[in-house]
Amino acid sequence: MIYPILRMGDPRLLRVSRPIEKFNTPELHALVKDMFETMHAANGAGLAAPQIGVDLRLVIFGHGPTASVESSPNTRYPDADAVPETVLINPVLTSLSDEQEDGWEGCLSVPGLRGMVPRTSKLRYTGFDQHGNAIDRIAEGFHARVVQHECDHLDGILYPMRVVDFSRFGFTDELFPGQVIADD
Ligand code: NI
Repeated sequence: MIYPILRMGDPRLLRVSRPIEKFNTPELHALVKDMFETMHAANGAGLAAPQIGVDLRLVIFGHGPTASVESSPNTRYPDADAVPETVLINPVLTSLSDEQEDGWEGCLSVPGLRGMVPRTSKLRYTGFDQHGNAIDRIAEGFHARVVQHECDHLDGILYPMRVVDFSRFGFTDELFPGQVIADD
Protein backbone atom coordinates (compact mmCIF):
# COMPACT_ATOMS: atom_id res chain seq x y z
CA MET A 1 0.00 0.00 0.00
CA ILE A 2 1.31 3.40 -0.98
CA TYR A 3 0.87 6.00 1.73
CA PRO A 4 0.56 9.75 1.27
CA ILE A 5 3.74 11.42 2.49
CA LEU A 6 3.27 14.11 5.12
CA ARG A 7 4.62 17.52 4.25
CA MET A 8 6.49 20.04 6.39
CA GLY A 9 3.99 21.86 8.57
CA ASP A 10 2.20 18.68 9.61
CA PRO A 11 2.78 18.42 13.38
CA ARG A 12 3.24 14.65 13.13
CA LEU A 13 6.63 15.30 11.50
CA LEU A 14 7.80 17.05 14.66
CA ARG A 15 7.23 14.20 17.11
CA VAL A 16 9.94 12.16 18.80
CA SER A 17 9.11 8.64 17.69
CA ARG A 18 8.83 5.57 19.91
CA PRO A 19 11.20 2.58 19.86
CA ILE A 20 9.93 -0.62 18.26
CA GLU A 21 9.70 -3.38 20.87
CA LYS A 22 8.64 -6.44 18.87
CA PHE A 23 10.46 -7.65 15.78
CA ASN A 24 9.50 -10.14 13.10
CA THR A 25 5.76 -9.52 13.47
CA PRO A 26 3.28 -9.49 10.56
CA GLU A 27 2.48 -5.86 11.36
CA LEU A 28 6.13 -4.81 11.17
CA HIS A 29 6.72 -6.72 7.92
CA ALA A 30 3.63 -5.09 6.40
CA LEU A 31 4.82 -1.64 7.49
CA VAL A 32 8.27 -2.19 5.96
CA LYS A 33 6.73 -3.42 2.70
CA ASP A 34 4.42 -0.40 2.55
CA MET A 35 7.30 1.97 3.25
CA PHE A 36 9.35 0.53 0.38
CA GLU A 37 6.36 0.77 -1.95
CA THR A 38 5.79 4.37 -0.86
CA MET A 39 9.47 5.31 -1.21
CA HIS A 40 9.76 3.73 -4.65
CA ALA A 41 6.52 5.34 -5.86
CA ALA A 42 7.89 8.72 -4.77
CA ASN A 43 11.25 7.98 -6.41
CA GLY A 44 13.04 8.59 -3.13
CA ALA A 45 16.17 7.08 -1.66
CA GLY A 46 15.07 7.17 1.93
CA LEU A 47 11.94 7.29 4.04
CA ALA A 48 11.28 7.46 7.77
CA ALA A 49 8.12 6.06 9.37
CA PRO A 50 7.05 9.49 10.71
CA GLN A 51 6.79 10.68 7.10
CA ILE A 52 3.77 8.41 6.69
CA GLY A 53 2.39 9.34 10.10
CA VAL A 54 3.74 6.32 12.00
CA ASP A 55 5.62 7.40 15.12
CA LEU A 56 8.04 4.49 15.31
CA ARG A 57 11.83 4.51 15.12
CA LEU A 58 12.10 2.91 11.71
CA VAL A 59 13.81 4.22 8.59
CA ILE A 60 14.54 2.70 5.21
CA PHE A 61 17.08 3.86 2.67
CA GLY A 62 19.09 2.77 -0.31
CA HIS A 63 17.70 2.39 -3.74
CA GLY A 64 17.15 0.10 -6.65
CA PRO A 65 17.98 0.84 -10.28
CA THR A 66 14.97 3.06 -10.92
CA ALA A 67 14.98 5.28 -7.86
CA SER A 68 16.78 8.56 -7.47
CA VAL A 69 18.05 10.14 -4.32
CA GLU A 70 15.92 11.80 -1.70
CA SER A 71 18.74 13.67 -0.13
CA SER A 72 20.46 15.29 -3.08
CA PRO A 73 20.62 15.54 -6.81
CA ASN A 74 22.40 12.26 -7.45
CA THR A 75 24.40 13.70 -10.33
CA ARG A 76 26.35 15.55 -7.66
CA TYR A 77 27.03 12.36 -5.74
CA PRO A 78 28.58 9.75 -8.01
CA ASP A 79 28.92 7.46 -4.99
CA ALA A 80 25.17 7.56 -4.33
CA ASP A 81 24.86 4.02 -5.65
CA ALA A 82 26.97 2.80 -2.75
CA VAL A 83 24.10 3.17 -0.27
CA PRO A 84 22.86 -0.37 0.47
CA GLU A 85 19.13 -1.02 0.70
CA THR A 86 18.56 -1.04 4.43
CA VAL A 87 15.82 -1.34 7.04
CA LEU A 88 17.09 0.32 10.22
CA ILE A 89 15.14 0.15 13.47
CA ASN A 90 15.88 1.90 16.77
CA PRO A 91 19.06 3.39 15.31
CA VAL A 92 21.94 4.76 17.33
CA LEU A 93 24.39 7.04 15.51
CA THR A 94 27.90 7.80 16.70
CA SER A 95 30.03 10.37 14.93
CA LEU A 96 33.51 9.16 13.98
CA SER A 97 34.74 12.44 12.64
CA ASP A 98 35.35 15.97 13.85
CA GLU A 99 34.75 17.11 10.31
CA GLN A 100 31.47 18.33 8.91
CA GLU A 101 30.80 18.13 5.19
CA ASP A 102 28.42 20.39 3.29
CA GLY A 103 26.01 18.72 0.89
CA TRP A 104 22.73 19.41 -0.85
CA GLU A 105 19.67 17.71 0.60
CA GLY A 106 16.08 17.37 -0.35
CA CYS A 107 13.22 15.60 1.37
CA LEU A 108 10.01 13.94 0.25
CA SER A 109 8.29 15.96 2.98
CA VAL A 110 9.71 19.23 1.61
CA PRO A 111 8.97 18.84 -2.10
CA GLY A 112 10.62 21.03 -4.71
CA LEU A 113 13.31 22.48 -2.46
CA ARG A 114 16.98 21.87 -1.78
CA GLY A 115 19.26 23.12 0.96
CA MET A 116 22.92 22.92 1.84
CA VAL A 117 23.33 21.01 5.10
CA PRO A 118 26.48 20.33 7.11
CA ARG A 119 26.70 16.73 8.33
CA THR A 120 29.24 14.56 10.07
CA SER A 121 31.36 13.03 7.34
CA LYS A 122 31.85 9.62 8.98
CA LEU A 123 29.77 7.72 11.51
CA ARG A 124 28.91 4.37 12.98
CA TYR A 125 25.28 3.30 13.02
CA THR A 126 23.77 0.44 14.92
CA GLY A 127 20.24 -0.88 15.21
CA PHE A 128 18.14 -3.79 14.01
CA ASP A 129 16.43 -4.95 10.87
CA GLN A 130 12.79 -6.02 10.78
CA HIS A 131 13.74 -9.59 11.76
CA GLY A 132 15.60 -8.41 14.86
CA ASN A 133 19.06 -8.99 13.38
CA ALA A 134 21.65 -6.53 14.64
CA ILE A 135 23.08 -3.96 12.22
CA ASP A 136 26.44 -2.36 12.89
CA ARG A 137 28.05 -0.35 10.10
CA ILE A 138 30.50 2.43 9.40
CA ALA A 139 29.39 4.93 6.77
CA GLU A 140 31.02 7.88 5.09
CA GLY A 141 30.08 10.59 2.64
CA PHE A 142 26.69 10.31 1.01
CA HIS A 143 25.79 7.09 2.84
CA ALA A 144 26.48 8.82 6.18
CA ARG A 145 24.43 11.83 5.04
CA VAL A 146 21.39 9.72 4.15
CA VAL A 147 21.49 7.93 7.51
CA GLN A 148 21.69 11.24 9.40
CA HIS A 149 18.89 12.78 7.34
CA GLU A 150 16.54 9.81 7.82
CA CYS A 151 17.29 9.33 11.51
CA ASP A 152 16.70 13.05 12.14
CA HIS A 153 13.07 12.41 11.14
CA LEU A 154 12.75 10.11 14.18
CA ASP A 155 13.49 13.08 16.42
CA GLY A 156 11.18 15.46 14.61
CA ILE A 157 14.00 17.22 12.75
CA LEU A 158 13.61 18.20 9.10
CA TYR A 159 16.69 19.17 7.08
CA PRO A 160 15.71 22.90 6.77
CA MET A 161 16.24 23.08 10.54
CA ARG A 162 19.89 22.14 9.85
CA VAL A 163 20.48 24.73 7.12
CA VAL A 164 23.08 27.26 8.24
CA ASP A 165 23.45 29.42 5.12
CA PHE A 166 20.01 30.35 3.83
CA SER A 167 21.49 31.76 0.64
CA ARG A 168 21.89 28.08 -0.25
CA PHE A 169 18.29 27.04 0.34
CA GLY A 170 15.75 27.30 -2.44
CA PHE A 171 13.69 25.78 -5.17
CA THR A 172 15.41 22.94 -6.98
CA ASP A 173 14.68 24.23 -10.48
CA GLU A 174 16.05 27.67 -9.58
CA LEU A 175 19.17 26.32 -7.90
CA PHE A 176 19.90 23.81 -10.66
CA PRO A 177 18.40 25.23 -13.85
CA GLY A 178 18.33 22.88 -16.77
CA GLN A 179 19.15 19.81 -14.73
CA VAL A 180 16.78 16.92 -14.47
CA ILE A 181 16.45 16.27 -10.78
CA ALA A 182 13.89 14.12 -9.01
CA ASP A 183 10.92 16.03 -7.69
CA ASP A 184 11.34 15.04 -4.08
NI1 NI B 1 13.46 13.48 4.55
